[in-house]
Parts: sequence; C-alpha cells; structure tokens
Amino acid sequence: MSAKIDSLLHEHRKFAPSPEFAAAADASPELYADATHDRLGFWADQARELLHWHTPFTKTLDWTNPPFAKWFEDGELNVAYNCLDRHVLAGNGDRVALYFEGEPGDSRAITYAELTAEVKRAANVLIKLGVNAGDRVAIYLPMIPEAVIAMLAVARIGAVHSVIFGGFSAESLRSRIDDANAVLVITADGGYRKGKISALKPAVDAALQSGDSSVRNTLVVKRTGQDVEWNDRDLWWHDELASVDAEHEAIPFPAENPLFILYTSGTTGAPKGILHTSGGYLTQGAFTHKNVFDLKPETDVYWCTADVGWITGHSYVVYGPLANGATQVLYEGTPDSPHTGRWWEIIEKYKVSILYTAPTAIRTFMKLGRQIPQKFDLSSLRVLGSVGEPINPEAWMWYREVIGGNLTPIVDTWWQTETGAIMVSALSGLTETKPGSAQVAIPGITIDVLDDDGQHVGYGNGGLLVVTEPWPAMLRGIWGDPERFKETYWDKFEGTKGAKDGPLYFAGDGARLDHDGDIWLLGRVDDVMNVSGHRLSTAEIESSLVAHHLTAEAAVVGAADDTTGQAVVAFVVIKLSQAEEASHEDISTLLRAHVAQQIGAIARPREIFIVDELPKTRSGKIMRRLLRDVAEGREVGDTTTLADTMVMNTIASKMRK
Ligand code: WT7
Repeated sequence: MSAKIDSLLHEHRKFAPSPEFAAAADASPELYADATHDRLGFWADQARELLHWHTPFTKTLDWTNPPFAKWFEDGELNVAYNCLDRHVLAGNGDRVALYFEGEPGDSRAITYAELTAEVKRAANVLIKLGVNAGDRVAIYLPMIPEAVIAMLAVARIGAVHSVIFGGFSAESLRSRIDDANAVLVITADGGYRKGKISALKPAVDAALQSGDSSVRNTLVVKRTGQDVEWNDRDLWWHDELASVDAEHEAIPFPAENPLFILYTSGTTGAPKGILHTSGGYLTQGAFTHKNVFDLKPETDVYWCTADVGWITGHSYVVYGPLANGATQVLYEGTPDSPHTGRWWEIIEKYKVSILYTAPTAIRTFMKLGRQIPQKFDLSSLRVLGSVGEPINPEAWMWYREVIGGNLTPIVDTWWQTETGAIMVSALSGLTETKPGSAQVAIPGITIDVLDDDGQHVGYGNGGLLVVTEPWPAMLRGIWGDPERFKETYWDKFEGTKGAKDGPLYFAGDGARLDHDGDIWLLGRVDDVMNVSGHRLSTAEIESSLVAHHLTAEAAVVGAADDTTGQAVVAFVVIKLSQAEEASHEDISTLLRAHVAQQIGAIARPREIFIVDELPKTRSGKIMRRLLRDVAEGREVGDTTTLADTMVMNTIASKMRK
C-alpha cells in the first residue's frame, strides 16, 4: 500500500482547464475567498441565491447542541417546488428535464412542465392514500421517470422517502420498511436489466407476506407488463394518477423538515438509516452541482449514471440537477446492453456535455478497449466527473484522453451518503487537477487530515479524513438511533487535543495531504468495503453467512480487485457435522447464492474459501489483515499476535493448491 501511495504522491502531471473554459466558467476564486472570510454568511448567500424560500430564514446555523445541527431553521421552503414549479413559472416549462432512455430502446423526453404536472398528480394520490407530512414512503423502483416523480411527490407533501435500491432482496426491503415504519411502498412490476426483464413486485409481495407490517398500500408502476400477483393493498400507479385532480399547490415546510432516509452499511449490525432534511441539503446539492460541474442549464445535457437507489442518485440525479433546472439523461439499464457501446451511443444521441460516473465503470471500459468509445462522436463532452472510490491515475488519464478527447477537466468528487453532497473536489472551471487526487475541500467546507490525537498531520503525511465544522447537507442523524449517530461519527476524536474547538466528524476514510495540500483518498479505515463504489459491511455479510445452517464461522474481507476496486472474499468454517456432506465447490456455490438472496446480488462474495479455522488473536478477535493478505495473493504478514500461529500456514498452503 505505502509503495503505491508514495508513487501517487510523486504524480507531477497537472491539468488546468483551457483558457476558454476558465473564462466562461461559473465559479470564480472569490467563492473560496468569501467562504473563508465568512463561512456561514457564504452559505446563507448560496441558500438565498440558489433556492426559493416561501419564508426567508433569519438564522443560518444552530450548533448549540452538537452533533445535532440545524440549518436555516426558521426558513420555509418546498423542495419539489424548487425543483419544478419555479422553473415553469420562470418561463422554462418547455425545457427538457429528463431524456429517459429505457434499456430496450424506448425513449421519452419529459419537460419541466410535464414533470411538474406528473408530480402534482402523484402528490394528490399520496394524499388520497392518507399519507401525511412526516410519514415514510418506501420506493423500490427501476431507473424510470416514475422513480424521480415518486421521490418529488413525497417531498412535495412533506413526507419522507426511503428509496431502496432495486437490487436489494425482499429481506433487505422488509428490514428497511420496518425500521422506518413505512405506510406505503411504490414499486413496479419489473424493469429491464442486461437485456432481460427483471421482476420487482414479487420481492415486495414477499416482504409484506406476513401481513404484519406498517404498510397499508402498494402503488405499482406498469413498466414491463409482465404478470403480477395482485393483493388487496395493491393499486396501479396509472389508474390512481388518472383518478385524481391535476392541480396541487405546494405548501412550504420548515427547512429542517425530514426529506429522506437512505440506508447504508456501517461497521456493525444492520444498515443505518441516514437522515437528511430539506433546506441545507438542497442548498449544498444545488451549489456543488452548479460549481463543480460548471453547469449551464440552458445548454448543457448532463448525465449521472448512478441509480436513484444510492445517494449519488438522490443528490445528483434528482435534487441538485432539478433544483438547478438542468436537462439530463436518465438511463434504465446496464452499460453493456444490448452492446458494449451503449453509453457512448447515448452520449452521441443526446449530445451529453457533462458525464458523472464511477471509476469501476471507467476501468471496465478500459479493459474492453478504446476502440469501442472511439466509434462514437463524444465531442459534446466538456466535463467529466468521478465518484464512489479512489480513481487510479491510469483510469483518470484514460478517462481524459479517450472519453474527454484530452480536453475535458476531470472532477474527482469525494463525499458520502452521510455528507449528502460533494465535500472535496476540483471546481472544473478553476482547479489545476492532478490525476488521482480529489484536490481540496469545496468552498464553505472545512476538511482536515488528522492523526489519532486529532492533530493535523502536516503536508506529505497520511491520517484520517475529518470534517471540522458542520455543513449544510450533513446528515441530521441515524433514523431512530441518536446514540449510534454520536458513536459512529463524533466520538472518535472526543477529548483529543484536536477537538478543543468543537466535535470533529470522522468519515471513516484514510487520506494523505501532499506538499501542495491536495488530498489523496486512501480507502476506508474501518470494516466497510467498497465494491464498485457501493458500500458493504463485512459484519453484515458475515452474519448472513453464519445464518446458513452449514456455517460455523465466517470472516469477510475486501480484497483489491482490478475492476471493482474491492471484491468480497469470505473465509468460512463449516460445521463439523456438515463437513462431509458436500464438496467445497458445492458449498461455496450454495453460500454465495445464499448471501445474494439474503442481502442482494451486490453482496455476493467473489470467492469463498472453506477453511478449518480462522486466524484469531488471543482475545478471540479475527485478524482480517492476514486474511486480506491471502485473498490478495501476498506473503502473509506478521502473525505473532495469533493465538495459534500455525493457522495461517495451513490456510495459506491450501490457497496455493
Ligand atoms: C465512501 C462513501 C459519495 C457517493 C457514492 C458513495 C468512498 C466516495 C470517493 C472518491 C475516494 C471515495 C469513501 C467514502 N468514496 N467517493 N472520490 N475518492 N473514495 O457513497 O456509499 O456513502 O460511500 O465511498 O470511502 O467514505 P457511500
């Protein structure tokens, strides 16, 4: 690791935006100056400039009860009105909001006026179904316009959405529905994925089968037209939308009204419901979307490839772009259906000018070869973004050369479900970028790299990434668990020298500062894995594995993977009574399927190794570091703290066979 980091730190290539690009850019150096001079005043200005407030706020931040922040507390706004009605009222109703591209090739352009009309009807349906402000609505949909419409309709009536990624299992869906006590589920018969129909409704049916959940109704979008089972609680989306009034007036809600819960994996236990509220979240989402990507709403065609089931889809498909009145592409399917040039074909077709995607995708395209994108006209592209995991300099350079024609700025954006919006990134019109570095904190955000004592590490050194001051889009808590919120993010540096001026937010990432003060992200420092930019918890997968009757013990590690960044590798001890029953291959196939079924396909281990014992310290702690050495094919490191130093020899020799 450290050899790799040293070589990264000697990266000397630098790329400034072209003079023409810089001259026409939205962002100016004053943004940094203003934010440094008066941070809260800066955010208040942004909130007033970028959003419509039904009731203007007079207070910017209340941080008297940390870590519970309140931003723009006495202001009132309607998030959906900000993303819809006001653009129509400003005369931009005919601007395309969404260019929807279905995987089978169906497409639909939806203007701001049309999107507003649909959201009004959907809001009336929610009201008809008895959904009140503050109620939770679960959304389990493919990447179709109805996903955006559903989210905005929930926001419009002041209710709280909890979007659950369509790849999650019935069990994951159920636990999220229960944790939030959702009253309604919005789903679809199915969607199109990898050239096939993939069903969604059966998972909802299975999740609600026992009949004892808080859900009163399910609203079902017809996407594929496949057969579905029908229950008393089920209603067709199209029938309901047709049956209600077309008018709906957006009433304002307090800035701190909850907007959504989004579940994400932590180091221990069940996924946490990250809670975001309205005014601060929308302010930072809109600000970053505009200034990081240099958005020109009148002329740009923006495309973020993330699914709305993840935070990137919330902040940079729905809320940021729509608050800014952007025109964007919404694509339902996978990059390689029906052919490996699909993304580039879409960029050519819609003349996409800003592309925001993940390093995993870029590395996959690199492997397939540049001849594929080179068949398409990508000259409309002017800004490229990256998110989700560290981007290695090779992938960064390929992205710029092959996709960006050696011209486009690349913005590598660091942030998290918890931060709600981009925190560390270049501003495309201003920053001279280095391949592989996420650069510096955006204006108005204060980031530092600290040692365990909370002391600044100094240039050239590594440590832990922290946010030193509250920020507008910060999570407001973990749904129903204030203690876990404090423990997970705020207790780490408590009482250290560095925390004397207030609590420090611990992000869970390692980072280094180079001699220019630029930030290089080094990956998670906890037991969270990052597979294709998606967060998975080792503990969650381990507990799924041990829930299987064959398994006695399990340890999961994230092993480096050329394409996905990290891959899930599991080491499993089989119960003695079962050991003879099946071959190792059968067992590992079985267990891989079991994890996919329990959590979702993204959590399915790449490999499962059946072992006799796990390496443990004398106090019984599993030494994952050693297992990672094995999984990554390295010489096993220091084993002296193991209770039984022979264990690793046995495991390692088995692997070599
Ligand atoms: C974790 C957050 C932010 C949306 C997608 C993931 C890693 C994210 C970067 C980046 C290096 C990154 C971090 C972070 N991460 N962006 N540009 N460079 N690492 O959201 O699922 O909440 O995961 O993703 O490890 O903590 P998430």
